Amino acid sequence: MNGKLCLITGGARGMGRETAFALAERGARVALLDWAGEEGARTRDEINRRYGRGRASFYLCDLSDLDQCHSFAQRFRQEHDSLDVLINNAGITYPEYRVSPQGNEFHFAICHLAHFFLTSALLPMLEASAAGRIVVVSSEAHKSCESIDFDDLHCARYWKGKAISHTAAFRAYSHAKLCNILFMRELHERLQGSTITVNAVSPGFFVNTGIHREMRGIFRFGSSLVFGAGQILGLNTPQKGARSHIYAASSAEVTGLSGCYFEQCREKAMSPEADNNELRKRLWTVSESLVSRPL
Ligand SMILES: NC(=O)c1ccc[n+]([C@@H]2O[C@H](COP(=O)([O-])OP(=O)(O)OC[C@H]3O[C@@H](n4cnc5c(N)ncnc54)[C@H](OP(=O)(O)O)[C@@H]3O)[C@@H](O)[C@H]2O)c1
Repeated sequence: MNGKLCLITGGARGMGRETAFALAERGARVALLDWAGEEGARTRDEINRRYGRGRASFYLCDLSDLDQCHSFAQRFRQEHDSLDVLINNAGITYPEYRVSPQGNEFHFAICHLAHFFLTSALLPMLEASAAGRIVVVSSEAHKSCESIDFDDLHCARYWKGKAISHTAAFRAYSHAKLCNILFMRELHERLQGSTITVNAVSPGFFVNTGIHREMRGIFRFGSSLVFGAGQILGLNTPQKGARSHIYAASSAEVTGLSGCYFEQCREKAMSPEADNNELRKRLWTVSESLVSRPL
């Protein structure tokens, strides 16, 4: 990874942070994108202290806002000629119904649309690399969503007007994670003949990061027990969760592989929907129209 430039969304905390440290350790230059300003600057400074000045940079950007994604992409393209690895990692689980400035439901906006936009905007930079890699961080939760409901992309049917619902949040999350898989597979098709590869990863279940901190009541209590027990046993640390991110981003074993889904650094079956051509293409067209803005 010596000298390679890797952009990691959600790089301030959790598995994105672990991935940034691991890639910097392997010699990469890491660019961290996050909406957590203080935490992002702290992670950048820690990496630079440990691996040398200029090894990490930090970009403050709220992925829920497509205008900010657009400004970030413009700035990044001005500052760098090429990009070797793009890791679409940032994600959320919010039990509260929230919409982006463009009116898109938060899970859909952050986990899918922002990354759809960023990947498209940065594709020319990945093409300029000798062998650009794109890593899409999905989840096994994508298998809980049977399909994409184009009449209810914001999962409003599940929230039923409620301000807070864990059931609806899980539906919105698994829906967004299925979008990640469909996007990865469609992009893989569209990249045939290019030197860029794209793969998806699942970090495993209940990785002990901050992603679950917005849970309320019994869900918060239950998840604390599961996370706490896993942490004591060393089963679900962010370091372990990030292994597949790092593998897909840097391992020689993955060279030339594209369109695959990895968990624990091993290839795994995706939802059968991943092979649904019509669904993939329709999601692509709808996403394109939702993010449309010239660079
Ligand atoms: N943890 C798990 O059990 C698990 C399981 C399967 C898949 N995953 C996936 O793994 C990925 C990483 O999750 P994690 O567990 O490492 O979560 P995390 O610790 O919460 O880290 C995610 C990072 O992304 C940032 N972020 C969230 N929304 C953002 C936005 N709108 N703009 C910019 N940055 C944003 C977060 O900031 P804040 O902390 O300020 O929100 C945080 O720094 C996600 O895609 C998640 O869906 C996680």
